[in-house]
Amino acid sequence: MAGVTVTNLVKTYPSGNRRATDDISLDVADGEFLVLVGPSGCGKTTLLRMVAGLETPDGGTVTIGGRDVTRLPARERGLSMVFQSYAIFPHLKVRQNIGFGLTMQKVPKPEWNTRVERAAELLDLTDYLDRHPAQLSGGQRQRVAVARAIAVDADVLLMDEPLSNLDALLRLQFRAELKKIVARLGTTTLYVTHDQAEAMSLGDRVAVMRDGRIAQIGAPMDVYDRPGERFVGGFLGAPPMNFFTATVHQGSLVVDDQSVPAPASLASWNDKKILAGIRAENITITQGQAQEGVEAEVEVAEPTGSAILLTVRWAGGELKVQTGPGLRVAPGDRLRLELPAAALRFYDPETGLVLA
Ligand SMILES: Nc1ncnc2c1ncn2[C@@H]1O[C@H](COP(=O)(O)OP(=O)(O)O)[C@@H](O)[C@H]1O
Ligand SMILES: [Mg+2]
Repeated sequence: MAGVTVTNLVKTYPSGNRRATDDISLDVADGEFLVLVGPSGCGKTTLLRMVAGLETPDGGTVTIGGRDVTRLPARERGLSMVFQSYAIFPHLKVRQNIGFGLTMQKVPKPEWNTRVERAAELLDLTDYLDRHPAQLSGGQRQRVAVARAIAVDADVLLMDEPLSNLDALLRLQFRAELKKIVARLGTTTLYVTHDQAEAMSLGDRVAVMRDGRIAQIGAPMDVYDRPGERFVGGFLGAPPMNFFTATVHQGSLVVDDQSVPAPASLASWNDKKILAGIRAENITITQGQAQEGVEAEVEVAEPTGSAILLTVRWAGGELKVQTGPGLRVAPGDRLRLELPAAALRFYDPETGLVLA
């Protein structure tokens, strides 16, 4: 077991015109499951490959279990990897595929068998050990790749979009299984995905990346509830956080011709413009109590099964509002909404950074 520390990692590809990772520092605790999440091209794979030893940084260090491994080749770093292109060998049976890393390490046969069988059992592959990959479904092949990575009992597990070749339903199933397996193993894990829901679901912590940097790192629900910058609120969540520009005026937020109560902490922003953010599920509909809240008009109502997602027109802009599945509304209906002050987050309109 081992923690991973990354310090000031900088990398520019020879053909690149900007830094793929721009001075990234990061601590992953022993046994922690850390997810790197962010849009395509933000540097997730590059960061992971530098931890793996598959890419050399221009500057900075990587330590694993307190040992500086920055100049060590991948095979001497005590880690194991699963990639999107899971690269299992078609000519080898599942058993030999799972045991591949152990074979490379020249693990003696009795132990080889024990470890392959244990990994197969964890991933529900026991009945498939004597098949070839061509006789497996996509989901089962993905499991073989994970089983192979787990079998070597590495100190650190690195995974780069391991579920992205699976269809939506399999992804959901396998996500929960993976969470269970990794929790049981207790292996320090760095996991890369562009899928915010996957990141929230799996991570002990998530690091949201943007343009080669870490925009915010924290427990999933903390980052979700308190985005440190507009970008993070707009990236995490389906739907993403609502944002609107407002003027603070004597204890109120004035938006177009509407106003909602502002918290006292905004006193120093009096008569200035700020950016406010609120999650769709934190906006409440105050039906019946005609004088409360602000008035909005329904544009679209989308039932999602467990909820209804409304797009409403309010104060010259749009808001997403999530409500229970029982509400009966149609486009054109007028609703009264409450935007509770405690659920509002405030950002500098210039920098997009959260206000202290
Ligand atoms: N082998 C490479 N050569 C040149 N540029 C690369 C290479 N790999 C990645 N990049 C660039 O580095 C940046 C980060 O890429 P990457 O780490 O793959 O991002 P992500 O995994 O988040 O999608 C992108 O701008 C990408 O185009
Ligand atoms: Mg990538």
